[in-house]
Amino acid sequence: MRIRTLTDTVGAEIEGVRLDRLDDASFDGIRAALDRHGGVLFRDQSLEPADLVAFSRRFGELDHAPVMENGRTAVEGLPEIYIVSNVLDAQGRPIGSLGAGEAVWHTDMSYLENPPDFSMLYALEVPASGGDTWLSSMAAAHDDLPGELREQIADLSIKHDGTFNSGGYLRQGVREDTNPATSVGQPHPVICAHPRTGRPVLYLGRRRNAYVMGLELEASETLLDRLWEHATRPELAYAHRWRPGDLLLWDNRATMHRRDPFDPAARRVMRRTQIRGHGAPRPVVET
Ligand code: OGA
Ligand code: MN
Repeated sequence: MRIRTLTDTVGAEIEGVRLDRLDDASFDGIRAALDRHGGVLFRDQSLEPADLVAFSRRFGELDHAPVMENGRTAVEGLPEIYIVSNVLDAQGRPIGSLGAGEAVWHTDMSYLENPPDFSMLYALEVPASGGDTWLSSMAAAHDDLPGELREQIADLSIKHDGTFNSGGYLRQGVREDTNPATSVGQPHPVICAHPRTGRPVLYLGRRRNAYVMGLELEASETLLDRLWEHATRPELAYAHRWRPGDLLLWDNRATMHRRDPFDPAARRVMRRTQIRGHGAPRPVVET
């Protein structure tokens, strides 16, 4: 197993492993690399849905996939698998979620009380161009916060909106509400202690409909704009150009991700799993 870092702040490629036949020592190496780099990439994998679920389970219990935009669950008999795709079935309905547009910066399912620790995305079909997935370090984003901004947010919480997904689509079963102060969502501390490494991380979730608890809406918007501008600088990010057989695995507490738009006439089909969180995001306890 060889580990090659992808940028100074986030991501590593792990070479020389087959995820469908992984020994315990290699798994331990992957876990350590994930803690260290926030996200890991494997190329040239060949995984049936059951292999993807089996590899995912090594990290813990799995969350069931969120209900897709088409109201269905993804793979018959495998409720853990979420399909991210723009492809339409014979009836003209999307087989997956997120369409072909941009998926804005976010971390997965942070509108839950216990968001998933990790997510992984496995590529089956990818467009010739576009659809790159970007990963960004929220530990690095925390570490270079201006001191005065860090102090301002130290004891604050953000409400993570549950109304819209990162493709901008209304979630199934939720009332459309564009007022950040009143829309459904889950508050989490802005700065969290990473549950595995203890490192402080910025935990922002999604910009749309986010709300800083206890502030006037206008003050909340101003503060959030400032934080998001800081956290989404391209120099903190790795942009992944996909090939079929790639698997990208990221830590939702340590990173955010986004996706470039792509040609809606091209096909992109990915399978995703999400590893259940070990508890609600915790604030950093100053000693
Ligand atoms: C996801 C996601 C982006 C992509 O599956 O959680 O954000 O590249 N996907 O499809
Ligand atoms: Mn996502």
